Amino acid sequence: MKDPTTLRRLYGRSKGRPLRAGQAALVDRLLPAVAVPAEGPLDSRRVFGNERPLHFEIGFGAGEHLAYRADLLPDHGFIGAEPFLNGVAGALAQIRDRRLTNVRLHMGDALEVLERLPDASLGFVYLLHPDPWPKARHAKRRMINPGPLDLIAAKLEPGGEFRLGTDDPVYCRWAMMMMSQRRDFEWLAETPTDFLVRPGGWPETRYEAKALRQGREVWYFRYRRR
Ligand SMILES: C[S@@+](CC[C@H](N)C(=O)[O-])C[C@H]1O[C@@H](n2cnc3c(N)ncnc32)[C@H](O)[C@@H]1O
Repeated sequence: MKDPTTLRRLYGRSKGRPLRAGQAALVDRLLPAVAVPAEGPLDSRRVFGNERPLHFEIGFGAGEHLAYRADLLPDHGFIGAEPFLNGVAGALAQIRDRRLTNVRLHMGDALEVLERLPDASLGFVYLLHPDPWPKARHAKRRMINPGPLDLIAAKLEPGGEFRLGTDDPVYCRWAMMMMSQRRDFEWLAETPTDFLVRPGGWPETRYEAKALRQGREVWYFRYRRR
């Protein structure tokens, strides 16, 4: 990623409360079985053993959206990246409980995995409730910035979809401004309800539920890669 204006470092926490014994055992046992290969170029064949449509989720949190989508589309391959250990443990529990065989996880930076995928290889990229970094002096830490967007654009196939959800009004305006400057993405909203109402096939995530409980608004964006 060549964008000098985006800071390329992981911010935020990678550990929260200690894992319960069952969660720790799950991380020890299941994570190695579903982890994205640690090094080298990645493609559908290397990750899933065959050719299949690929989806990628940046910062999957506790994995509810990733698991829901993977359950819905069992012939597709889902790769998710999340540096937060407690979130990874949550996603592993979903993989186990739903018996999913089409999900691979990376505990760490999503951009590092995206860079290793072939260009034009992804059908969908999801970025749901990214850390807002609301202070202007932290704007370079936001995932919606030219560098990460260039990478997402490069990895999406033409006609592929980028879905963004946020409950932060600063981030919402920022994202609209950043995305409106791009010629490689077409905003799929035709009426305001398209971004005020959660589209079908887009389940509620933990952060979304929290925002709605606290009376905040949530915005849903769908962009098509030109
Ligand atoms: C506000 S939470 C939202 C989690 C989830 N998407 C949801 O909607 O419930 C943002 C998440 O992005 C993760 N994150 C931040 N930087 C990341 C990066 N470079 N790669 C992958 N995940 C990242 C954080 O660890 C955090 O779990």
